[in-house]
Amino acid sequence: MTTKNILVTGGAGFIGSNFINYILPVREDYFIINLDKLTYAGNLENLKPSQDKKNYTFVKGDICNHELVDYLFKKYSIKYVINFAAESHVDRSILGSEVFYQTNVIGTNVLLETAKKHGVEKFLQISTDEVYGSLGPEGLFTEATPLSPNSPYSSSKAAADMMALAFHHTYGLPAVVTRCSNNYGPLQFPEKLIPLMIINALNDKNLPVYGDGMNVRDWIYVIDHNKAVELAFENGIPGGVYNIGAGREMKNIEIVRLVLKKLGKGEELIEYVKDRPGHDRRYAINSSKIRNELGWKPAFDFEDAIEHTIDWYLENRNWWEKIISGAYKNYYEIQYGNRLIRN
Ligand code: NAD
Ligand code: TYD
Repeated sequence: MTTKNILVTGGAGFIGSNFINYILPVREDYFIINLDKLTYAGNLENLKPSQDKKNYTFVKGDICNHELVDYLFKKYSIKYVINFAAESHVDRSILGSEVFYQTNVIGTNVLLETAKKHGVEKFLQISTDEVYGSLGPEGLFTEATPLSPNSPYSSSKAAADMMALAFHHTYGLPAVVTRCSNNYGPLQFPEKLIPLMIINALNDKNLPVYGDGMNVRDWIYVIDHNKAVELAFENGIPGGVYNIGAGREMKNIEIVRLVLKKLGKGEELIEYVKDRPGHDRRYAINSSKIRNELGWKPAFDFEDAIEHTIDWYLENRNWWEKIISGAYKNYYEIQYGNRLIRN
């Protein structure tokens, strides 16, 4: 069995940790080096099922740190990269964009330059459908839809996509880009719509709905996304872009009502608040390319998976209570001291 040494970045966040926990048991040929800065969104507790596996190691660090990234490529003979690391929340990007361009653009550039230098065999850039901008009531994003990002977050992701594709075009770097729609599932940081609404409802706090609540997102369960990531990583054609989506469009207000209903809470908790500036009206994905070329299709039914997600938050109060009380701040230091840091 040939082992693939894969640098997975941002593996302590929502999608990255679900990816590592899902993939390690099914791919014994993967050795994963998880490089994560542990920002507010990174949480080593997410990786409990993986932390003691022999084909896994964690490094705390910044993808913008060229010296560290180069050191890791050498130390672990890295030939594969899956770049999940990012600042990921639109509202935060509106409040302050600098760290978004730093991590999402400069950080990706550091990874691409280092991958080029070390001759990687696959570089998977994890991106988002938000790079396409906003849809009207009709139509779907295809891979040929022109990029038209509207928020600092989505513009930083679009820049990273273009860089990955330019490195393929110019240097032959085997880069692949995936663009997925809105994810939900366990371990999602409670700033995003679904976990925020679940937790507020459980605490009998108001559920803030932006604008008229009629904005549409195309929801996918995180494990379905990660199965598509695995396929794009293994079989995606270099220079290719793959849209990922489960075809489940929902208005925000429908999601909020569903959460309230499942938790047995009343709709008087709904509070319409000021709209997000530049709020994209509708995202919806045509994912026929990845379905036809790579044989991917979503396995989870929305009703079951959203119920499972709500149950997860009910059963894991400890996880999110620590987050909302700020108690994770020093988790890494308490848990690991300096033992795992480079050198
Ligand atoms: P997240 O915010 O939950 O996690 C991001 C992770 O990256 C955290 O662990 C954080 O510590 C780490 N990180 C941030 N800056 C870093 C840096 N400079 N160096 C190293 N690590 C750093 O995000 P997520 O929701 O898991 O999203 C993961 C990726 O998927 C992102 O690239 C995002 O753009 C993309 N994406 C997300 C969604 C979604 O619905 N959440 C949909 C499509 C695509
Ligand atoms: P979010 O989870 O932030 O994802 P994105 O902006 O990347 O799509 O938001 C999903 C939708 O929910 C988006 O239309 C904004 C809306 N929203 C609210 O109405 N209230 C909230 O408190 C949040 C966080 C989001």
